[in-house]
Amino acid sequence: MNFYDYVRNIQNFPKAGINFKDISPLLADKHALANCLSELVVLVGSQKIDKVAAIESRGFYFGTLLAHKLEAGFVPIRKPGKLPFKTIKEPYELEYGIDVLEIHEDAIEEGDRILLHDDVLATGGTARAACNLIERLGGKIVQCNFILELEFLYGIKKLQDHSVCSFLKF
Ligand code: PRP
Ligand code: MG
Repeated sequence: MNFYDYVRNIQNFPKAGINFKDISPLLADKHALANCLSELVVLVGSQKIDKVAAIESRGFYFGTLLAHKLEAGFVPIRKPGKLPFKTIKEPYELEYGIDVLEIHEDAIEEGDRILLHDDVLATGGTARAACNLIERLGGKIVQCNFILELEFLYGIKKLQDHSVCSFLKF
């Protein structure tokens, strides 16, 4: 199976000049979905994971599936105002302006072994903020795990202190 065939290019989305990588075809095909999940699990290898932390919203597609496969718990990292309990917050830079990610303050216990998952590693700002949240709560990040990495944006530079694994690279 060539997984790249299941990633569709959408020009000028969400704004002019952006070539968006759309994984909807991969999600819609039952074999591609199952095989992609298996490949993400292979990236983790035999490392023990207590919890998968995934980033709203597209990180949730595979985040809970991964947690189930790895026999781990699941922790959502969300955009502001979405989580109901007490949170800690971490700002991060967008192309224009800043945004914030939040995590429940009781979501991670000191020493928990965490797999961070998101669909895409682009500039790395989102994943960096998520790592900061996890580490502020005492979590140990075992791996940052992505379906797609846009290598030409060098997001990996923002995650240099972590193991970064991506399934598909562009
Ligand atoms: C996209 C993507 C990653 C992030 C990567 O999410 O799903 O989470 O951007 O970008 P970066 O590496 O440059 O920070 P987006 O914020 O568009 O939101 P969504 O997942 O809710 O669609
Ligand atoms: Mg996202």
